[in-house]
Amino acid sequence: MAVAYQNNVYVVNHPLVQHKLTLMRRKDASTNTFRRLLRELASLMAYEVTADMPLSDIEIETPLEKMMSPVMDGKKLVLVSILRAGTGLLDGMLDVVPGARVGHVGLYRDPKTLTAVEYYFKMPQEMNERHVIVVDPMLATGNSAVAAVDRIKELHPKSIKFVCLVGCPEGVKAMQTAHPDVPIYAASIDRQLNDHGYILPGLGDAGDRIFGTK
Ligand code: URA
Repeated sequence: MAVAYQNNVYVVNHPLVQHKLTLMRRKDASTNTFRRLLRELASLMAYEVTADMPLSDIEIETPLEKMMSPVMDGKKLVLVSILRAGTGLLDGMLDVVPGARVGHVGLYRDPKTLTAVEYYFKMPQEMNERHVIVVDPMLATGNSAVAAVDRIKELHPKSIKFVCLVGCPEGVKAMQTAHPDVPIYAASIDRQLNDHGYILPGLGDAGDRIFGTK
C-alpha cells in the first residue's frame, strides 16, 4: 500500500504505518514506546520495500508430495544502516528478513555546514551480487543519504533503495538530484526543514529518541 508521492518516491500509507507514526511523533512518547513502535513500523516498511524482490523456486516436500515453491534469497539482500539512527530501523527489518546481510555507514552531520562527514564504512563481500536497502529514519537535508549512496554505488550493487520514516521536500529533492535511480520509501513526507536541519513537524531527533540520549 505505497502510493507515489512523485516519480520514484513512495509513501507507505497503510493504516497501521500511519497510526504508529502518529504515536511516535508525540513528544510524550517514552524512549521505550518510541523504540518499540519504530521496530514495528520498520517491519511494515520492510514488507513494502521488498514487494518486488526476485523469487526463485526450490524443491521441497510437503507431508503429501514434492513441489517446487518460491523463496526469496535473503542473503542477497543487504540492509545498510546509516549510523546511528538507522539502527532503530534495522532491527524491525531484520525481524522480517532475518537472512539479510548488514552494512554500516557512519556519518555525522557537521553542525555548522550540515554536510555529512564519514567516519565508518563496512559492507559485506560481493556487493555486486546483492540488492541494497539503505535505512535512516529521517531524510532531512539528504546529505547523509546522498553520501551513503555515493559510497555504496562504488561497489556496484544490483539495486539500491532508500527507506526512511519521515522525509521532507528538501531531502527528497537532494536525493532525486544526486540519485534519481534510487527509489525512496517513506511513511510521510513532511512540510519542510527548519534552519537547524530538523524536519517540521517531524518527530524530533530520531537518534536521541531511540537511544534516550536527551
Ligand atoms: N535528523 C533527525 O533525527 N530529525 C530531524 O528532524 C532531522 C534530522
